[in-house]
Amino acid sequence: MKINTLTRIGFILAVAGSAIGLGNIWKFPYMTGQMGGGAFVLVYLLTVVFVGISLLIAEMLIGRSTQKDCYGAFETLSKNAPVSFKFAGFMAFSGLLILTFYTVVIGWIFHYLFLAMSGSLAADPKVSEGMFMTFLQQDIISQALNHLLAVGVVGYIVYKGMKKGIENTNLILMPLLIVIFLGLVFYAFSLPTFTKAFHFMFDFDFSKIDSHTILMAVGHSFFTLSIGMGAIMTYSASAPKSSSLFKDALTIAILDTLFALVAGLVIFTFLFGFSDEPSKGAGLVFISLPMVFAQMGFVGFIVGILFFIALSFAALTSAISILEPSIKIATERYGMSRAKAIVLFSVIVYVIGFFALISNSTMYGQSLTFGGKNLFDWLDFFTTAFLLPIGGIIIAIFVGFVIPKEIREQELHQYSHTFIYKIWLFSIRYIAPIGVLGIILNESGILG
Ligand code: TRP
Repeated sequence: MKINTLTRIGFILAVAGSAIGLGNIWKFPYMTGQMGGGAFVLVYLLTVVFVGISLLIAEMLIGRSTQKDCYGAFETLSKNAPVSFKFAGFMAFSGLLILTFYTVVIGWIFHYLFLAMSGSLAADPKVSEGMFMTFLQQDIISQALNHLLAVGVVGYIVYKGMKKGIENTNLILMPLLIVIFLGLVFYAFSLPTFTKAFHFMFDFDFSKIDSHTILMAVGHSFFTLSIGMGAIMTYSASAPKSSSLFKDALTIAILDTLFALVAGLVIFTFLFGFSDEPSKGAGLVFISLPMVFAQMGFVGFIVGILFFIALSFAALTSAISILEPSIKIATERYGMSRAKAIVLFSVIVYVIGFFALISNSTMYGQSLTFGGKNLFDWLDFFTTAFLLPIGGIIIAIFVGFVIPKEIREQELHQYSHTFIYKIWLFSIRYIAPIGVLGIILNESGILG
């Protein structure tokens, strides 16, 4: 066994830890709220089933069969191919762009965790909205400090390495996250507004589906499963050789989807109990939820703290998976020391993140807004709706057509039925690339 090989449970928890994050608890509920509920949820679920799981398997296959960093993995598997895909490995660096706004939001969570602990979340809707808006638009210093803390914690865990840092963090934080979350879920189930939340999320209104909703839902399913930039690939380079990638991928996709759906139900249940505004956008968990917690008295004080702890655990275990791919390339391919690579990339992430953060402020917002979106929203939109789907298409074509057939079979076939293998291959060759490309072209107006 290589020193860096993870245990099976360590691997599954690490990949699940990567997948379950802000995408599930912060983005998914607010996007569902903004896009009108069920229609968005339906497209998201369909994409996970028909494209997401196959791509998850494809990324795992590239990583595990080569045991290399992203660049090295594409290079190795390109060896006898007519076209070399080795430059595709640079998709790892799109993670740095994701990390910029991701760590800003982790900073917000830290700030709200401190507020929850000091008992100062506000019960009054106006106050709670004002509190977040003032923080977001004016309190650059608090945000910058919390952002620094977030980048520091992420950098530190990754610095400790794949086993001591990443595997151990997941082995501790993921079970804790699941326990806290189950507690929140049982509490929400007992509230009367649960049914309303259920209808909001699962009543599909087809008139609400348009090309934009579809692109956002597809992009989101990539984001939430962590596919399209080499994070899963990088983790899989340390995966144990003996497990079935089909089973592992399915387990992870189910966990991730359950987490999103349940987080949505919990949040909308709380929300409908105390206010009626599901479309608050990025402020949803920071405006509406604190207000709800504050109205629940002492129970709310405890629930509030637990909620923000859970959220920070979920986010940290994802953020480390977004950073590791770049670090692995820098250290294994360019021979940089781990410390140096971490410092270098953390500084880049911090600085870009800082500009993203001030692009939400009243003072600098104007000068950092282009084409109707500020820098913060651009980073999120551009990575989620374009870079990840494009990364996904490249991975699909590469695994479906370019790599030697023997590698696919050796990694997958021996563990599964021919029938399942064939469905997977069809999805990776045709459904994933054609479907996703069509959607991107359609949204960008190229298909008219
Ligand atoms: N999946 C994580 C979430 O839902 C975010 C994430 C982690 C990610 N690693 C990634 C997104 C790699 C894209 C690519 O919050």
